[in-house]
Amino acid sequence: MIAFVVKYAPAFLMRIIAIANQKGGVGKTTTAMNLSAGLASKGVRVLLIDLDPQANATSGLGMTEQEGVSLYPALVAGDDPRNAIIPTQLPGLSMIRSTQDLAGCEVELAQAGNHLVRLRQVLQPLRESGNFDYAFLDCPPSLGVLMTSALAAADELLVPIQCEYFGLEGLSKIVQVVQHIRECGANPGLLLEGIVMTMFDSRANLAQQVVTDVRSYFSEIVYQTAIPRTIRLGEAPSFGKSIIEYEPNGRGAQAYRALAEEFLARHAPKADTPAP
Ligand SMILES: Nc1ncnc2c1ncn2[C@@H]1O[C@H](COP(=O)(O)OP(=O)(O)OP(=O)(O)O)[C@@H](O)[C@H]1O
Ligand SMILES: [Mg+2]
Repeated sequence: MIAFVVKYAPAFLMRIIAIANQKGGVGKTTTAMNLSAGLASKGVRVLLIDLDPQANATSGLGMTEQEGVSLYPALVAGDDPRNAIIPTQLPGLSMIRSTQDLAGCEVELAQAGNHLVRLRQVLQPLRESGNFDYAFLDCPPSLGVLMTSALAAADELLVPIQCEYFGLEGLSKIVQVVQHIRECGANPGLLLEGIVMTMFDSRANLAQQVVTDVRSYFSEIVYQTAIPRTIRLGEAPSFGKSIIEYEPNGRGAQAYRALAEEFLARHAPKADTPAP
């Protein structure tokens, strides 16, 4: 296990990756939970932050109503965000849950005026703690304050796209928002790290066509691993488990482990990267 950590530990402070697409139901939460779990199963130290008031990642990983607090007290009252971290059943994977009060952040942060930088400030102690290699932000499906704050706080953006006719809808919008976040100075270094195709049905010509279209436009940004549509991936959250725990040898778990491998290969320190 230690050998894995040493092998994969990135030569930089914790990277923050927003998983976002303003379109609903495209597999953001499924990807946030299972990519996090896939990485944790390889010895990577992962923090999953549920920024969506729907709290699907929170319940999907088996958190009860009573366990933990969201980032809300850290965002609006300056509490230490490290107090919100709770372990999950999977070794190596911790999370910060969502609660309903996060919905209030949309209004309260907007009124505070500095909403674009607030989340970044709040996450700084986590970034510097040295306790995690990656933090994933599971974003709500809107272009509201929580999602734009996530884009302002993140180093990278990972966009899940559903392999369906309307899957590409809205992608140009999110690319525009990324451009805006960079240009307004909120986060000039924000990287469009990747696009992951979700709910892929290899028997459907349309799904193949959508993947071909997305690859021809976004080329190598698109992950080679497409996540298949499987019954197990859909039902795992109702058992409070990632697919890695629920059906470790099934197609869904294999796909998310492959995605985790690809993610790590993309994030491997380059030979010419100076030591920190
Ligand atoms: N690969 C898959 N195979 C089968 N079902 C899936 C797959 N990916 C996601 N689902 C199911 O599709 C639904 C939407 O997925 P998910 O919640 O991950 O999307 P989302 O983008 O986070 O949605 P929202 O925009 O509401 O936050 C869920 O019921 C989920 O279990
Ligand atoms: Mg979601």
